[in-house]
Amino acid sequence: MAWKNSGAMQICRFLLLAILFLPRGMTSSVLTVNGKTENYTLDTERGLQESLTCAVENHTREEELLWYREEDKVDLKSGNKINSSSVCVTSISEDDNGVSFTCRLERDETVSISVMLNVTFPPLLSGDDFQTVSEGNDVNLVCNVKSNPQAQMMWYKDSNVLTLEKDYHQIQQTSESFQLSITKVRISDNGTYSCIASSSLKTETKDFLLIVKEKPVAVPTEAIIAACVVVFLTLCFGLVARRKRIMKLCIKHEEPNRGTSL
Ligand SMILES: *[C@@H]1O[C@H](CO)[C@@H](O)[C@H](O)[C@H]1NC(C)=O
Ligand SMILES: *[C@@H]1O[C@H](CO)[C@@H](O)[C@H](O)[C@H]1NC(C)=O
Ligand SMILES: *[C@@H]1O[C@H](CO)[C@@H](O)[C@H](O)[C@H]1NC(C)=O
Ligand SMILES: *[C@@H]1O[C@H](CO)[C@@H](O)[C@H](O)[C@H]1NC(C)=O
Ligand SMILES: *[C@@H]1O[C@H](CO)[C@@H](O)[C@H](O)[C@H]1NC(C)=O
Repeated sequence: MAWKNSGAMQICRFLLLAILFLPRGMTSSVLTVNGKTENYTLDTERGLQESLTCAVENHTREEELLWYREEDKVDLKSGNKINSSSVCVTSISEDDNGVSFTCRLERDETVSISVMLNVTFPPLLSGDDFQTVSEGNDVNLVCNVKSNPQAQMMWYKDSNVLTLEKDYHQIQQTSESFQLSITKVRISDNGTYSCIASSSLKTETKDFLLIVKEKPVAVPTEAIIAACVVVFLTLCFGLVARRKRIMKLCIKHEEPNRGTSL
C-alpha cells in the first residue's frame, strides 16, 4: 500500500487536523469586555461606578455567558446572558481594589477574559490610638494603612520628626501596616505620636497617645515585715497605756462624792 505514505495522505491529514482545530482556535479569542480582547486593568476611583460589557464576537451560534467576581458567580438576569452580558459595579470602594471580574463562555469555561479593578484612594489610617504602659516595658504602636497608590510613611513625636535610636526604636513596614516598637520605655517617651502617610493624592495623619506611668517603687519584703512589727508593737504599747487610763477612770468612778463636791 504505497499511497499510505504519499503526499496526498499528508495533505488529507493536515486538512483533517485543520478542520478539527481551527474552529476551536477561533472561538478561544472571541470574548471581549468593553471592546478589549485581552485581560486588562481598569483604573477607577472610590465612589464611582463601572459598567463591564462582555460580548461574543464572530460566533456562529447562540452563546451563553457567565460573569464571576473573583471565584463567585454573579447572578445575571435572564435577558443578560445570551451573546452579550453586562455587570455594573456600583459605589466602588477600597475593598474592590485588586478584585477581578471574569466573563466566561458557559459551554467552555476555559474561554475567558478578565478585568482587574485598580481603585485609587487616599491613605486610610487606623489603630489603637491610646495606650498606657509602665516605665521599663516594651510597647508597639501599630498604624494600619490602606492606600492606592502606596503612601510614604513617617512617625512624628509631639510634632517633630521622631529621631530613631538604635536598639531602642524599631520600625517595621508592610503593605498594610507601619509599626513603631520601643524597648523598655522611659518616662520621656510619654507623648503624642503621629503616623503620617503621604500619597500623591493626599497626606493623612493619625495620632497615637502613649502614656508612660512611673514604675511603682519596689518595697523589699524585709522592710514590710519590719514595718509590720513596728506597727504591731506600737499598737501593743498603745493598748497598755490605755488600759492604765481605763483603770484610772474606774478608780475615779469609785469616788463619786469627791467629784460632785468640787
Ligand atoms: C471578527 O471578524 C472580523 C471580520 O470578519 C475581524 O476583523 C475580527 O478581527 C474578528 N474578531 C475576532 C475577535 O476574531
Ligand atoms: C486572562 O487570564 C487568564 C488567567 O489569568 C487566562 O486563563 C485567560 O486565557 C486570559 N484571557 C485573555 C483573553 O487573555
Ligand atoms: C446570538 O447570536 C447568534 C449567532 O450570531 C444569533 O443567531 C442569535 O439570534 C443571537 N441571540 C440573541 C439573543 O441575540
Ligand atoms: C493603579 O493606578 C495608579 C494611579 O493611576 C497607578 O499609579 C498604578 O500603577 C496602577 N496600578 C496598577 C496595578 O495598575
Ligand atoms: C503624656 O502624654 C500625653 C499625650 O501627649 C499628655 O497629654 C500628657 O500630659 C503627658 N504626661 C506627662 C506627664 O508628660
